Amino acid sequence: MYDFVSGPLVWVAFAVFIGGLAFKFVTTYASAKGEKVVLPTFSGKHGLRSLLHWVVPFRNRNTRLRPIFTLISFGFHLCLLATPLFLMAHNVLWHRAFGVRLPSIPDPLADVMTVIVVLGGGFFFLRRLAVPVVRYVSDWKDFVLVLVAVGPFVTGFASHQQLLPGDTLLILHVVSGVVWLMVIPFTRIVHMMWYPFTRAFMGSEFGYVRHARDW
Ligand code: HEM
Repeated sequence: MYDFVSGPLVWVAFAVFIGGLAFKFVTTYASAKGEKVVLPTFSGKHGLRSLLHWVVPFRNRNTRLRPIFTLISFGFHLCLLATPLFLMAHNVLWHRAFGVRLPSIPDPLADVMTVIVVLGGGFFFLRRLAVPVVRYVSDWKDFVLVLVAVGPFVTGFASHQQLLPGDTLLILHVVSGVVWLMVIPFTRIVHMMWYPFTRAFMGSEFGYVRHARDW
C-alpha cells in the first residue's frame, strides 16, 4: 500500500498539479485577452511595484490595520510553503526523484513550523465561524479547504511523533499530500498561482490608469 501511494499516486498528483495549473493559466489568459481592461492597461513597472509592496508585511496600510491577522497569515504561508520544500525527509525524496538538493531545515524547527501551519489553519477556520462579514460569504467548501490545507501537516506531525504504530499515519500523510496537490488548481487555493497576477493587475490599474498607489 505504502509503495503504491508514495510511488505512482504521487506522480499522478504532480501531473494533475502542474497540468491543472498550466490549463488554468492558458484558459484564463485566453479570456483575459478578450477584456478591454486587463492586458491593455497592464504595466510591468506598476505591477512589480505593487507586488513588492504587498509581499512584505506591514508595508501597506491594510496589513498595518490588521497586525494579528497579518502575522498569522504570513507565518502560516511561510511555514506552509517552506516546510514541505526544505524538510530533511522530503529532501531525500526530491533528490531521489529529481536529482536536486535543497537546503534542509532541522527537524525540531520543522515541527515548530508544522504547528504554526496547523494553528494558523485553526485560526482561519474559527474566523470564518466567528466574524460575521466573513461568515456571510463562506460556505462548506471554504471550511473543507482549510482542512485540506492543513491535512498533510497534521498527519506529517503525527507520523513524525509516531502516534500510531506501523505505516498508517505515513500513508495518510502521503494521501493528504496527494489531495493537497490535486485540488490546488481547481479550488480557491489556486490563489497561490494568481496572487502575483492579481497584484500586478491592481498595481497597473492604480498606477498606470489612476496615477495612484494601491497600498
Ligand atoms: C505563493 C503562494 C501563496 C500566496 C501568495 C497566498 C496568498 C494568500 C492571501 C493573500 C490570502 C488572504 C489572506 C491574507 O490577506 O493574508 C490567503 C489566504 C489563505 N491561503 Fe494562501 N497563498 C499562497 C499559497 C497557499 C497555499 C499553497 C495554500 C494551501 C494549500 C494556501 C491556503 C490559504 C488559506 C487556507 C487561506 C485562508 C483562507 C480563509 O480565510 O479561510 N495558500 N493566501
